[in-house]
This record gives sequence, C-alpha cells and structure tokens, in this order.
Amino acid sequence: MNKRPTLSLKSPAKQAAPKLRASHARELKPALQTHFQTKLKPDSLAYSLIGAASAIAQVKTGTNLPQALAQVWAKQPDLTPQARGAMQDIAYRAMRQLGQSETLVSLMAPKAPEPLVSALLSCALALMAAPDHTPPYEEFTVVDQTVTAADAHPDTARAKGMVNAVLRRFLRERQQLLDAALLQPVAKWNYPQWWIDAVKTAWPQQWQEILASGNTPPPLTLRVNSRKTTLEQYLAKLADAGMAATQIGPYAVRLEKPVGVHLIPGFAEGEASVQDAGAQLAAPLLDVQDGMRVLDACAAPGGKTCHILELAGAQVTALDADPKRLARVGENLDRLQLNATLKPADAQNKDWWDGQSFDRILADVPCTASGIVRRHPDIRWLRRKGDTLQLATLSGKILDNLWQMLAPGGKLLFVTCSLWPQESEAQAAAFAVRNQAVRLDAPGQLLPAGGSGQDHDGLFYALFQKNA
Ligand SMILES: C[S@@+](CC[C@H](N)C(=O)[O-])C[C@H]1O[C@@H](n2cnc3c(N)ncnc32)[C@H](O)[C@@H]1O
Repeated sequence: MNKRPTLSLKSPAKQAAPKLRASHARELKPALQTHFQTKLKPDSLAYSLIGAASAIAQVKTGTNLPQALAQVWAKQPDLTPQARGAMQDIAYRAMRQLGQSETLVSLMAPKAPEPLVSALLSCALALMAAPDHTPPYEEFTVVDQTVTAADAHPDTARAKGMVNAVLRRFLRERQQLLDAALLQPVAKWNYPQWWIDAVKTAWPQQWQEILASGNTPPPLTLRVNSRKTTLEQYLAKLADAGMAATQIGPYAVRLEKPVGVHLIPGFAEGEASVQDAGAQLAAPLLDVQDGMRVLDACAAPGGKTCHILELAGAQVTALDADPKRLARVGENLDRLQLNATLKPADAQNKDWWDGQSFDRILADVPCTASGIVRRHPDIRWLRRKGDTLQLATLSGKILDNLWQMLAPGGKLLFVTCSLWPQESEAQAAAFAVRNQAVRLDAPGQLLPAGGSGQDHDGLFYALFQKNA
C-alpha cells in the first residue's frame, strides 16, 4: 500500500467552496447570552428551544446550520449531550417546516416578529405541527416552555406576550390556520418558491415525490470496509449489537434507527464508515486497479477517497481547495488505516501538479447540493437561484482543467449531488463536446429515493474516457 506523506504546506487555495448567502442578512446580537443561562436549566425544553432558535436565526443571516449550531454550543459551557441532541433535533425539524411555520406566523402575528422571536416561533410550531402527527412533546408543554424561553432572552423577552398569544391561538384554531397556510406552495412544500419551480421544470413527472423526499429525515447508511470485514460478517455484528439493518448495496447497510457514530460497531477500528448508498457508487464506477495513479480532485471530507482505497491499492492524490476540510480527509484515512497524498489546492489550475498524468480522476465538484436536502434541510433556505449558474461555471472550469491531466485511455468520473440539469446532465453533455470525451455507461441522474431498498440521495454520475 502507498505511503501518505504529510500534508503539503503550499499556500491554501484561493478558491474555496462558495459561501452561502442569506436572504435577509441582518446583524444579530450574540445568541444565548450568559445572563439567561442561570435562568434556564440545560435539561429544560425552554433551554433547547432558545438554543435551536438562536441557530435558526443565524441560518437566516447566511450561516449553514451545522456551523450555526456549533457556534451556539461553543457559548454554552454547561451544555449536556442531551441538550445538544434536543437542540439539533428541534433545529432540523424547524428547517424542514420553515415555510409552513413562517406562513402560520404571518397569518397570526400583527406584524413581522424580530428575527429571534420568529425563529423561536418556528421551532415551537415545528414541534406542535409535526408532519407525522407524532409530536415529540405535549403541546401545552411546548407553549409553556416557549414562553419561558422567550422570557429568558433579552432579544425575545418583550415579545413574550405575543409568543404566548400566537401559540395559544394555533392550539385553538389549528385546522383553519393550517388549511389557510397550506394554500401557499411555500407552506405546503417547505421550500422557497423558486426551488419548487425549478424542481417542477426539471422533473415534471416526479417533482412532488422529490420535494416530499427532501423533507424526510435521512437514514443512517454505512459503508462496510471490505479490507477489514465482509458485509455478511458486519451484518452479523450489527445483529449481535441488537441493531436492525438492511443491505442496500454491495457495501451499503442501512440502520433501522440512526445512532451516533460512537455507537456504530467497529467504527473506531475502521470496519465501517458513514456514507449514503448513492455516494457508494462512485468508487466502483471509477474502476480503479492496484497501482493506478488516481486523482480525487474535490476530495473532502474523503468518503469517496477512502472507498477507492478500500477497493484497490492505488496511489491516490486527494485535493481540496479548503485546507480545513482536507484535514478531515486525513482523519478518515487514519481511522481506516489508509494512505493518500493530501494537497490543499484549487482544481481549476495546475500549479500543484507534477505533470505526471492520472489513470483515473474523480471530479466530485462543488455544486448547489440540491440532491441532499434531506440531510441538509437548511440548504434550500440558503441557496439563491443564481447560485446554479455560478457553480456550473466553476465546475465546468474544473472539469476542463482535470481532463488535461488524464492519461490517454484514462477515465474521469464526474459527480454532483445536484438535481439541476444545468449542473449535471447539461454540464456533462457540453463537456463531452468541448473535449471530444467518450461517454461510458454510468447511472446519470439518480433522483432521491427514500424508505425503499434503493434508499439514496439525489446524485449525478457521468463517466468519460480519453481516447488512447
Ligand atoms: C461535494 S464536496 C466533495 C465530497 C467528497 N468527494 C466526498 O465524497 O467526501 C466538494 C468539495 O469540493 C471542494 N472544492 C470547492 N471548490 C474547489 C476547487 N476549486 N478545487 C478543489 N476543491 C474544491 C469543497 O471544499 C468540497 O470539499
């Protein structure tokens, strides 16, 4: 197996992943200020509600949800694992129902609430109007705890009466309010209108299923490491641990109940990794053989890099424009005891390249991520319509540059996690024409599918070969 030299110390790439922009970028005061920490107990629902609301308010200023939650957690020294889990759960529910919640509030509140009040109401309504009709808390508890949370924060205390009035009115007039709200597509589907229109245009037959599947919580799918165990042995190990699981791909196992990674059997030992079943198609499609020179050009956090190395003893270079994200590739390789050369660099240019061509190139390019909204329900509220063209332009440049590094007869696999044809099929077709690339058999667009034996995200695959 090849050795992994230490991380190259070249200057970080100029082109990092595009930053998401906010619709209503507003200055917020730091969330979860210390003085209310003494008022709210970390094990109370009120504490989790105001924490989740602070994160949602940050998302509305353009921060992605994982980062917003991390910022909230960093300010809470007394945070318990339970409170962290509850905040995360509430915040993700709130993102999946934001269209409905904000529409309900607009029907009930006399004027638009301040950002943190609006976010708090969205969190409460997501719990009270759960789509599966199995609210995780008693409704009156949610009302009471939301009012307590409002009272405890300086940015919401003055709105305590309004919060109470809105939530109690929702309890009294639930059906009429929901009927009125759901007349609006943004409330019915919980996506911005431009997103709904874009899915309808791209997928006129399947648009409703696609939108609905983006609102379902994702499964936990594992990739079994064929260097360490077999799928049968690993399924037996899960059964021994009392974890029900189904095989949904050659290396893919879906757990019936998602758990934290620390509870996944053999995770620390590298027997399994978390990876969507659709993403697990990349490494086999690339058809890597022992000894080949392989470039993974947009590698972080390294799910596909590691899968390639689990399947073949190849010399892999893993590139990413974001050095912090690239460090995560190193962590994953270490856990799995695999080796690759890590390079923080921009795949649009060649200043990092030693001039030796690659036998295989994986181009898992930056994109709108519209195919993975069930995992990242904040994306729909952060993206703008114009991002698609901007990202397609970037990925076109990356693809053209990488093609020049491919050996004659070599293969390049183009991957996106997008549902927009401009980033995927149209990009692949234009690329093939520009570069006289031979298109080989690959799945093309995988529409997101959930709850079946085919459970996977919405990914796109196109495979190209260079004439020998
Ligand atoms: C879809 S993610 C890759 C996921 C990864 N292949 C995996 O399976 O774990 C796209 C990556 O491209 C990186 N990226 C964005 N612009 C880039 C560029 N110009 N050059 C190289 N990497 C870039 C981002 O930092 C991000 O990590």
